[in-house]
Amino acid sequence: MSQTSVLVTGACGEIGQALVQALAARGGYHIVTTDLLPLPDAIRPLSAEHVQGDLVYRVKQFYDYNFDIIFHLAASLSSKAEVATEEAHRINVEGTMQLLMLAAYKSERRGKAVRFLFPSSIAAYGFDSLEQKRKAGRVKEDEYNTPHTMYGCNKLYCEKLGLYYSRYYAQRHLDPNPPVMCDFRALRFPGLISAYTVPSGGTSDYGPEMLHHAAQGCPYACFVREDTKISFMAMPDAIKAILMLIDAPREKLTRTVYNVDAFSLTAGEFRERARRAFPAAQITFEPNPRRQGIVDSWPEALDDSAARRDWGWQPDYDVDRFFEEYFLPAIRKRYRTPNRMSKE
Ligand code: SER
Repeated sequence: MSQTSVLVTGACGEIGQALVQALAARGGYHIVTTDLLPLPDAIRPLSAEHVQGDLVYRVKQFYDYNFDIIFHLAASLSSKAEVATEEAHRINVEGTMQLLMLAAYKSERRGKAVRFLFPSSIAAYGFDSLEQKRKAGRVKEDEYNTPHTMYGCNKLYCEKLGLYYSRYYAQRHLDPNPPVMCDFRALRFPGLISAYTVPSGGTSDYGPEMLHHAAQGCPYACFVREDTKISFMAMPDAIKAILMLIDAPREKLTRTVYNVDAFSLTAGEFRERARRAFPAAQITFEPNPRRQGIVDSWPEALDDSAARRDWGWQPDYDVDRFFEEYFLPAIRKRYRTPNRMSKE
């Protein structure tokens, strides 16, 4: 049987590594990866080919391939993007645009839609005040689309570009015989937490950082206030959502962009959970005004009823299962012997 040919960009990132492992475990995929970095040992044998370098300049060479699915995960995350704003725009927008052009061209050429999976984010939302955030509670996809960050603006705009290339490209949908267009699908993720990798450059990072530090017995100064609340999700659920959405029959989808959600916790509740598991954990709160402002502009919870209705989404891990059945067993095993924290 022929294999499904896939491209995974940002393969060395947290979602990338977990996705490559999940695709390999499923079987039936020919996996090409790309990233600025060489592949880490955990996934090196799973990739048929790795293209190392800056995506914006590498896309040209992918015109020689026939990908059925593009998982475009490469991005500069929210905190990093506020430090190098124009560079973030280049990575986040130009990289996506180049790949959408590739997907559009190949879909038309082959007469078969290339599926394009794009991870968007809670950063696509933006509240003007904490009062507005608290009042809003669980937000729907089309509400509060007023991001405060470069990363959030990039994500929101790329969602729109995806819709454009998959539906209205050059107004060709109005032709008597419209070409086959690409099949763009996006997920708005909350903060993601993996037991195996540590994030870098994001602003929801305080959650996973706090837990990984506590597990290793390292002190942690949390960069947001104790009452800061956003939603989070276990990495296995993020991978589940990606695979469910990419597998969903097109006719079931009523939107191109879907919220997915799992559980909401305050930073103080994270500390409680961390202390319960690791009583010696030393966690303090030293808010950084800029990073605090970013998280204050993000929603406490996402309304994912469209994903539940259209393609049967539901997370496997609520907050208790996240800690008891996923994070703590894995992290205890991982840090059983003292070692340094890996940024991979
Ligand atoms: N986790 C991301 C960040 O903090 C949000 O999507 O930047």
